[in-house]
Amino acid sequence: MLVHITENFEEMSKLAAQIVAELVRKKPDCVLGFATGSTPLGLYKELIRMHHKEGLDFSKVTTFNLDEYVGLPPEHNQSYHYFMWENLFNHINVDRRFVHIPMGMAKDIDAFCEWYEEKIQKAGGIDLQILGIGANGHIAFNEPGSSLGSRTRIKTLTGTTREANARFFQTPDEVPRYALTMGVGTIMDAKEILLLANGESKAEAIAATCEGPITAMWPATIVQMHRLATVIVDKAAASKLKMKY
Ligand code: F6R
Repeated sequence: MLVHITENFEEMSKLAAQIVAELVRKKPDCVLGFATGSTPLGLYKELIRMHHKEGLDFSKVTTFNLDEYVGLPPEHNQSYHYFMWENLFNHINVDRRFVHIPMGMAKDIDAFCEWYEEKIQKAGGIDLQILGIGANGHIAFNEPGSSLGSRTRIKTLTGTTREANARFFQTPDEVPRYALTMGVGTIMDAKEILLLANGESKAEAIAATCEGPITAMWPATIVQMHRLATVIVDKAAASKLKMKY
């Protein structure tokens, strides 16, 4: 696991964007795994800038998103579909036929999850998966206690995650109770992982992820087992790390 500690959010985002851009230039038809949330927003902004100013070409890129709330239609302004189009896809030349985001409105959820896994495999697997991390150590919506071998499925959101995400909804009750999420095993199958974190609230989860024992109670700790994982954190998120990096 490679750990980079950056001065701030902006530096974290730019470094992450360089890694993504390098892959897109080297392999124009690569498969990228995307995350939502506040953490990758700076990265997406920088990718948009690179597309406009440096001609970074996404036309052949295939994308898979980590997760989506169950019950929110794609046009709902808190759905992860909406988030991705609003914050990235509408501003780059991605081909909409190559974009995949779990369908929170799927009628047959199990069949959808199976189809999503197959689709990732048929695309040749994910070349680079971008991850944020929850303060409780979740990756995607794999909450503490999730099987470290899990595949795409429906998960119940914990109270802490619903509270953390309540800031985006009008009332806390509106936060969905369930989400579709790639499993920990699905994420670990990606050829490369890029985990980002910023801010003091992530410091404990980052210390567990980089230096703690591997445990399903901190799902992100499994990233220690990945052959090609890079963690980029700002100083605040790195503040509880004990080793020198
Ligand atoms: C979202 C996702 C989540 C977030 C995590 C951190 O697609 O996979 O695991 O990465 O909840 O969220 P932020 O970045 O808002 O702190």
